[in-house]
Amino acid sequence: MKKATYISVLVLAILLSSSFEKHRNTSYYPPSDSEIETKIDSLLSIMTLDEKIGQTVLYSSIEDQTGPIMDPNYVNYLKNGEIGAIFNATGSAFTRELQKVAVEETRLGIPLIFGYDVIHGYKTIFPIPMGEASSWDLELMEKTAQIAAKEAAAEGLHWTFAPMIDVARDARWGRIAEGAGEDTFLGSKIARARVKGFQGDDLNDRYSILACAKHYAAYGAAQAGRDYHTVDMSLNTLRETYLPPFKAALDQDVATFMTAFNELNGVPATGNSFLLKDILRDEWNFDGFVVTDYTSINEMVHHGSAETLEHAGEIAMNSGVDMDMQGGVFKDYMKKSIEDGKIKISRLDEAVRDILRLKFKLGLFEDPYKYSNEQQEKEIILHEDHLEVARDAARKSMVLLKNEGDILPLKNSQKIALIGPLADDQFHIIGNWAAKGDRDGIAVSVKEGFEAQNKNFAFAKACNIEDSEQPDFTEAIKIAKAADVVVMVMGESERMSGEAASRTNLLLPGYQQQLIAEIKKTETPIVLVLYNGRPLNLSYESEAADAIVEAWFPGTSGGHAVTDVLYGDYNPAGKLTVTFPRNVGQIPIYYNMKNTGRPQDIPGAHERYVSKYIDVDNSPMYPFGYGLSYTKFTYGRPELSSKTMTVDDSITISTTVTNSGDYDGEEVVQLYIKDRFASITRPVKELKGFEKIFLKKGETKTIEFTITPEDLKFHNNKLEFVNEAGDYDLFVAGDSDNEFTNSFNFEFKKSKT
Ligand code: GLC
Repeated sequence: MKKATYISVLVLAILLSSSFEKHRNTSYYPPSDSEIETKIDSLLSIMTLDEKIGQTVLYSSIEDQTGPIMDPNYVNYLKNGEIGAIFNATGSAFTRELQKVAVEETRLGIPLIFGYDVIHGYKTIFPIPMGEASSWDLELMEKTAQIAAKEAAAEGLHWTFAPMIDVARDARWGRIAEGAGEDTFLGSKIARARVKGFQGDDLNDRYSILACAKHYAAYGAAQAGRDYHTVDMSLNTLRETYLPPFKAALDQDVATFMTAFNELNGVPATGNSFLLKDILRDEWNFDGFVVTDYTSINEMVHHGSAETLEHAGEIAMNSGVDMDMQGGVFKDYMKKSIEDGKIKISRLDEAVRDILRLKFKLGLFEDPYKYSNEQQEKEIILHEDHLEVARDAARKSMVLLKNEGDILPLKNSQKIALIGPLADDQFHIIGNWAAKGDRDGIAVSVKEGFEAQNKNFAFAKACNIEDSEQPDFTEAIKIAKAADVVVMVMGESERMSGEAASRTNLLLPGYQQQLIAEIKKTETPIVLVLYNGRPLNLSYESEAADAIVEAWFPGTSGGHAVTDVLYGDYNPAGKLTVTFPRNVGQIPIYYNMKNTGRPQDIPGAHERYVSKYIDVDNSPMYPFGYGLSYTKFTYGRPELSSKTMTVDDSITISTTVTNSGDYDGEEVVQLYIKDRFASITRPVKELKGFEKIFLKKGETKTIEFTITPEDLKFHNNKLEFVNEAGDYDLFVAGDSDNEFTNSFNFEFKKSKT
């Protein structure tokens, strides 16, 4: 063995032995932050240039495909020490096999990290994130992320490419399904809850995994809702709307960021030093690492911002990217770029340091195989407790959009006709990005949910989600005529939302609307249950159906949850986190829009010369924050602790909420505030607080929100984050479509210049 190699291996042995020694004494404590930095210094000092570059390279196994390019040679790259991380490799046995190559067949034996898209569950699948967000239950979302992390970690994974925290206001965009919806305030809270769930309190914990704030940034603003399309916006909108959830994730110590595919104002996010250095590192002091999205470095050539792949790699690295996902650009060109002086070795060292730090924090240098334990897999995966949480999450994600004549909840005495392409579905029910969720029998369909609870029903599928020709509705019509109520389970396929799944129309696909129309003719009341990954155009259904339950893609226990809701074993309390438009022509439509100079909805507005459409009302079909219950909630007028606020105090807003209906139930109490005028136009209202409460029938509670000057700050036209004096209106209600019922003055001493 060459002398140099002998020395380096000796150094590494010393480096690692201290931690192994601690581990053997079973009094092992994870190294302190300063000890980790010292260890990284030692490692960097003996790493060759090739070994450093290897740490910045992430490749997919060929077990799963989540992008356009696959490379079966990744194992050879691994053996050559050219890979630092692998994704789409799962299972204790497989990850252990790959880890063994890294640890025992490369010179320094630096362990791999294994990543995967654990977006809404790993094997136990929860509702899609858009669904979970509709629960407005932060503790629940933290819990489901924690379970997802535990199942993923049990199968050898160290890192999830989640949470997806892109604010999205365009229902045409398929990836709206993956996030928390249109609101920045709510999206920021949810970002923190999910990061906390995935990472826990200590990354060294056996069941903590690295989270990843994605897609940085503004991916949800893709032009025309077409995936990967151009993003162009003011820096004010970027700061006010799209960046705060990423800052919230960072405040929750998110370990990694992922760059978005899109360009932002002419510069691809993957080569955007304004995003990656000025904001993320210099302003926010991020100390994790930045991974690109799938081959997004290579795509800078298509964007037209890089002349060659080598040039793209230089832009990406010098802009602040630390790891290249699947592109092979850092692997193939970084060495030459460094030798040509286009990338400084110090920049590479920074990237390698950030990557190694998280490998140390995960405890992988102490035990590279700690996550690959087949016995623990068996004990944890699909645990019955997880399935119960999945059922609870699904119930809480459902939004009751209509309930004419209180047709719901159903009664066991009623004869039900269960109809539709998704009524016995076990495939689409777990939605898109469903990790290792089973699509062939584990998930509970609505039909199985009805059977499990001995419901009195007949079933007819009647059509597929899409059909090439007119299906035969005879059987469906027959059982509908014989029934007291028809339950129709319909919607989109799981592939009609998620990545690369934008739609130009939001209607129920195929012949589904025709099926509803035919069943409507039987005059048997219709309850419509929807599986979908985006707001749909429900203009027809909102008239044709007597009740509508938005179930999103409810996950592994979805069928039980739908049954629980339809029969009132759970009183639905979900609230929309995205606006449902009347049709696609209204898009983008969202609740916190600007007022314009010719608003339509003010007293004395001219009937013609106002901001409106001549063919559709401006209002949405269903607004942000909306969702019904089987009971009724009555709100008192919000009372203020003071009608004025100064820079160093706060105002408490107290509102009584009464359950004035016939069922116990939950309600998401929401606070909206409007800044009447400022040096830059402000939204017509903004969500500034919410609290999910439970009220027994007849019960009243007083809900309090405290507002401080910090809550009223905004970015002015100089991008300063400021307060301005002025009058503010507010209301507290169960959705965003309400009148203001109180106001206060903010006496900020500086004038509004
Ligand atoms: C995909 C997605 C990203 C995902 C990654 C790895 O293209 O854009 O969200 O995490 O590739 O699968």
